[in-house]
Amino acid sequence: MKHSVLAGLLAWAVCSGVQADSATDEIARYREMIADGNPSELFALQGEALWKQKRGPKNASLEQCDLGLGPGVVKGASARLPRYFKDTGKVEDLETRLMTCMQTLQGIDPKLVIDAPWGKGEKETMQALVAYIVTESNGEKIAIDMRPPQMKKMYELGKMAFYYRGGPMDFSCATCHGDKDKRIRLQDLPDLRTQAGAAAGWGTWPAYRVSNGQFWTMQHRLSDCFRQQRFPEPIYGSDVTIALSVYMAATGNGGTVLTPGIKR
Ligand code: HEC
Repeated sequence: MKHSVLAGLLAWAVCSGVQADSATDEIARYREMIADGNPSELFALQGEALWKQKRGPKNASLEQCDLGLGPGVVKGASARLPRYFKDTGKVEDLETRLMTCMQTLQGIDPKLVIDAPWGKGEKETMQALVAYIVTESNGEKIAIDMRPPQMKKMYELGKMAFYYRGGPMDFSCATCHGDKDKRIRLQDLPDLRTQAGAAAGWGTWPAYRVSNGQFWTMQHRLSDCFRQQRFPEPIYGSDVTIALSVYMAATGNGGTVLTPGIKR
């Protein structure tokens, strides 16, 4: 009797271990199955149409937007973001750069993007534009230009933010993302302090999320990690989000961009 209870417990313990592994395998298998037809394609198609569509008070398209490689160049642009832009005197990530272009070319107030709920209004527009642009960098190398002093400053700020502990649980980003082989809710968490880990973690976002059928930009990913850290929600596109992005992207420099990713 006693023996069978023990055997049962053992079997349960083994099974739950197996279950965790097979769930990761299942996600891998799903990725393979849809590799030729990433669900993000629908968002990317919408984004391409929005890029070319005349919108806003100035009734202009985004086709003259300079994402860093010259006006209108989309191919390879997001693999090189965030970067320092002379025209704004700021380090911008893909989303804040798009806000700059929407404002200057189309006359759309950045507040409309910042204040919209995730997946609604101008944030929905942003999400589609991002899906389009990052698809055009799929397979490129992460190539962050760290020469401008403004980039070095952002990197140092981002590194500080990454290790900054606080909140009711005294968590930092490193608490969840500074270990080898860490896993939370069946999601493998890369060690973002290393080149390989940062390349995997940074290089596969923005991503389509299988669990909720949503497309998440990097700003959305970061905002949700602040929540997991029990920190107040960061302001969309604020310096701390850019700094963290520079830190992760620069750490992953040379890795391969696989965007849009497919995630749990
Ligand atoms: C309490 C744990 C926790 C903290 C703290 C945390 N994260 Fe996360 N993070 C996660 C989890 C869990 C995921 C996986 C996404 C999911 O399945 O929800 C994730 C995913 C990510 C990813 C994508 C990795 C990948 O391979 O897909 C990045 C990048 C990231 N976090 C950055 C950060 C940054 C930057 C901070 C600090 C501001 C942070 N995280 C704080 C738990 C955390």
